[in-house]
Amino acid sequence: MSTTFPDGFLWGGAVAANQYEGAYDADGKGLSIQDVMPKGIMAPPTEEPTPDNLKLEGIDFYHRYATDIALFAEMGFKVFRFSIAWSRIFPNGDETEPNEAGLAFYDRVLDELEKHGIEPLVTLSHYETPLHLSKQYDGWVNRDLIGFYERFARTCFERYGDRVKYWLTFNEINSVLHAPLMSGGIWTPKEQLAAKDLYQAIHHELVASASATRIAHEINPDLKVGCMVIAMPIYPLTPDPADVLSVMHADHANLAFSDVHVRGTYPGYFLRTLREAGVELDITDSDRETLKNTVDFVSFSYYMSLCESAKDAEVGQGNIMGGKRNPTLPESEWGWQIDPVGLRIVLNQFWDRWQKPLFIVENGLGAKDVLVERDGVKTVEDDYRIDYLREHLLQVREAIADGVELWGYTWWGPIDLVSASTAQLSKRYGFIYVDRNDDGTGTLERYKKKSFGYYADVIATNGASLDA
Ligand code: BG6
Repeated sequence: MSTTFPDGFLWGGAVAANQYEGAYDADGKGLSIQDVMPKGIMAPPTEEPTPDNLKLEGIDFYHRYATDIALFAEMGFKVFRFSIAWSRIFPNGDETEPNEAGLAFYDRVLDELEKHGIEPLVTLSHYETPLHLSKQYDGWVNRDLIGFYERFARTCFERYGDRVKYWLTFNEINSVLHAPLMSGGIWTPKEQLAAKDLYQAIHHELVASASATRIAHEINPDLKVGCMVIAMPIYPLTPDPADVLSVMHADHANLAFSDVHVRGTYPGYFLRTLREAGVELDITDSDRETLKNTVDFVSFSYYMSLCESAKDAEVGQGNIMGGKRNPTLPESEWGWQIDPVGLRIVLNQFWDRWQKPLFIVENGLGAKDVLVERDGVKTVEDDYRIDYLREHLLQVREAIADGVELWGYTWWGPIDLVSASTAQLSKRYGFIYVDRNDDGTGTLERYKKKSFGYYADVIATNGASLDA
């Protein structure tokens, strides 16, 4: 028999500004890279925002936040993870003064959360670098981004630091290796990007993240700042030691980011990677000092595991992190392999490695939903999503029984929103259905899916209903 979830466990959901707010140019907001990425990572950016970009309107949370938050409250959310769109606060990213109207929007969101007793968890940078910083500076390749980001972070901590305790510096910071524009705001196309520039960008982000942690703690020592990475257990495709070694290398590439965030210095294996790539980074003494500002907790997204092999093997689909296909696992309609046990494995791996509190800030299933009418009420009978949720939470409970310290769990996309990788709305994650289609049609009405009630029960019973 397993233990239960701890008292005060933070149950909730997670979203990102660019995928649900809409209102892409309202109240002085500048453009972000997402406003010119109508196909997500599936195609190069456009020159200007184009009407086929679903993110421009999103699901109109900007105007419907009060009723949406009321629905989250109805599910019993204890925590809500959202990002602050950098370009609402600093429209171009390099201004010295913030945009008051942008700041005021998040005041209103926080008021609403407070009204319902929901704890905010804020991501500062969730794949939404201001477009100007991307085009004019080549994003994080340029050291100037550190100063711009520090100003943004300081502005947010000063404005909201007495109402927001939990902060994340960068969403999935380790994804920059694979998606340099989306993750690092790097305008240079991936195929033309020099290794030196990519690693320099990584260094700048790591310094900026540590610097933000320092600033937060200076402003209010009670603030909790975490890093956020893609978590992915990697299995050897066969017991061949060469495959196991491939796993070690792939793990290193992913874990380096949190190793630096937790240990405050670069691990030896990372320095070796740089040496062998012939990359000499520009690291100042002050950078080294800044990196020592380590995080309070480690947060992560979990969607899938991967296999690695020293030999050629079938590559996983729909997976921005590469890797080989696991022949034992089922997959989603978008080819993401589903592996609840992998979540227990990764929770143990992270806890054993860092002994820092953990927070699952994304986990979920993107699926095609069909809206039906039952007893005169529109809904979605999404038993597949309920199964996914239950199977993953049972493994989370096992990890807690294993001794892992876990602060909370936020389901990705508790309300349908635009997909980051494919920019579709039909890849739905929500417990709440939003009437909007890939061609932009739809009323934007919200409907509760079957999973809405299921998750509400899980939260109300602090996980006990998983056994029902
Ligand atoms: C994570 C991102 O990679 O996965 C989210 O942090 C994203 O922004 C989520 O939406 C699910 O991915 P997708 O591509 O299905 O939206």
